[in-house]
Amino acid sequence: MVIILLGPPGVGKGTQAARLADSEGWEHVSTGDLLRAARRDGTELGKKAQAFMDAGELVPDSLILDLVRDHLKGVAPEAGILFDGFPRTTAQAEKLGGVLKEVRRKVGRVVVFEAPDETLVQRLSGRRSCPDCGAVYNVHLSPPKQEGVCDRCGGKLVHRADDTPETVRHRLEVYQELTQPLIAWYEKSDARVVRVPADGPVDDVQADFRAAVR
Ligand code: AP5
Repeated sequence: MVIILLGPPGVGKGTQAARLADSEGWEHVSTGDLLRAARRDGTELGKKAQAFMDAGELVPDSLILDLVRDHLKGVAPEAGILFDGFPRTTAQAEKLGGVLKEVRRKVGRVVVFEAPDETLVQRLSGRRSCPDCGAVYNVHLSPPKQEGVCDRCGGKLVHRADDTPETVRHRLEVYQELTQPLIAWYEKSDARVVRVPADGPVDDVQADFRAAVR
């Protein structure tokens, strides 16, 4: 099964995808995480992406497609895949369709997570992430046991540079302008589009998410 997760910044795509992928052994492909890893590794692509990400703009499609194509080379052809934060533009969706077709696969489900903007801004202002293992916390809602330290690997937690209220508002505008139209785009395709309310507790959202991909 190839599943696409759509939804605005902070809606919980990463949190939900990580849980489902861990329990089912599926591949979780987050282009945001791949880009942050490229930045940490100091690759050319990471350097090119940095200014776009910090400003809350989308990274150019050509860079993203190279990144995804490279990553998919290491994924078993029959593995379940959860795409989180990709595609984000119609051009990316068209290219993904082509890449999947080459390996005789297609998008089976598009899950759209939804929550009010105020919830998203509040969640992102409290988000802390571990750059070493990728674990995500929230200082208001799901804090680590020791402030600033990852429960899972002991790494030093960071507040993402693009999680300031001003940049989050810009990311929301970018989502509405460039990514939200993909919902209608996929509704016209063979894929089944399912909307999941994502403003409840993490466990409830996970239950609805599992029902949506069954
Ligand atoms: P990316 O990292 O993909 O950011 P995003 O899509 O804006 O999504 P977020 O990671 O901010 O949120 P999320 O929905 O995963 O929420 P999370 O689970 O963390 O992209 C960053 C940048 O990279 C982009 O702006 C762009 O520049 C670039 N980029 C990436 N992909 C690209 C692409 N395809 N094309 C072009 N550019 C691209 O949860 C958020 C917080 O809420 C956490 O603290 C969490 O603990 C908490 N939380 C989650 N669920 C709940 C809940 N149910 N109740 C309470 N708290 C919750």
